[in-house]
Amino acid sequence: MTLMDFSPIELNQLIERAIQMKQEWKSGIITQPFKQRTLAMIFEKSSTRTRVSFETGITQLGGHGLFLSPRDTQLGRGEPVEDSARVISSMADMIMVRTFDHKQLERFAEFSSVPVINALTDDFHPCQLLADVMTFVEHRGSIAGKTVTWVGDGNNMCQSWMNAARQFDFKLNIACPEGYDPDSKLLAELNGRVEIIRDIKKAVEGADLVSTDVWASMGQEDEQALRVAAFKHYQVNASVMNNAQEDALFMHCLPAHREEEVTAEVIDGPQSVVWDEAENRLHAQKALMETLAINSGLISQ
Ligand code: CP
Ligand code: NVA
Repeated sequence: MTLMDFSPIELNQLIERAIQMKQEWKSGIITQPFKQRTLAMIFEKSSTRTRVSFETGITQLGGHGLFLSPRDTQLGRGEPVEDSARVISSMADMIMVRTFDHKQLERFAEFSSVPVINALTDDFHPCQLLADVMTFVEHRGSIAGKTVTWVGDGNNMCQSWMNAARQFDFKLNIACPEGYDPDSKLLAELNGRVEIIRDIKKAVEGADLVSTDVWASMGQEDEQALRVAAFKHYQVNASVMNNAQEDALFMHCLPAHREEEVTAEVIDGPQSVVWDEAENRLHAQKALMETLAINSGLISQ
């Protein structure tokens, strides 16, 4: 459901395994522990990266990805989530869900007899963080003790970065406008490790990594104009990056809106690692699926 479902040791092992699986795949080593297994993929919101990475990932592991959308299943016609979870998990071996309400996902997982993966809710996007930390490790080594600055909305990505700060042991500065803070309870729990700094230039001082996201997330399309006004001082541009460490990396989960939350100069520039970040979704999620399959007894180590 979130990064908090694993211990810090398990998460670091998962990142190492993801890097190893990427190398193995690129050197032509094929292992198919998911042969004849099915990953059901429920998408109640749009996706490019998540769908392609999970579907490709399960194929690389020898299994099959089954795409399910509310438009052409009973999920969109009001079948209770508890019933759907029981039925789908009686046939599929693992389930990936992208939905709106995090509580609905938890309810789904409660009634599923197989592992359920959060592929984004309104509150968290943990799979993205696995890829993001993996990308940092590949480029710079361990993220422990580093400083990360989040610029923009206190949204699902921001809250996942907060969990990551706790689990991977780094400092997180959040530059967001008033009224767009992350969950206050989460913020209170992370007092000292996570800090809101409204001034974007101050927030990026000393940062080893700067990350941002769209100003209006999926489901907030009606607020686009309001948000463009609220976030106008929260753009990651060259002058902001100049205030971070000289070798600071730039990340964005994508899709991006150039000249809104980030300038083309930054996202297409030398500090940006967004394409590695997107590609790493594939390998990080293969490591996640393998770990869940081992932990649940589906495959042996
Ligand atoms: N970053 C991410 O999750 O992208 P998609 O919405 O395209 O899956
Ligand atoms: N915060 C964005 C992330 C997209 C991957 C959204 O929820 O739309």
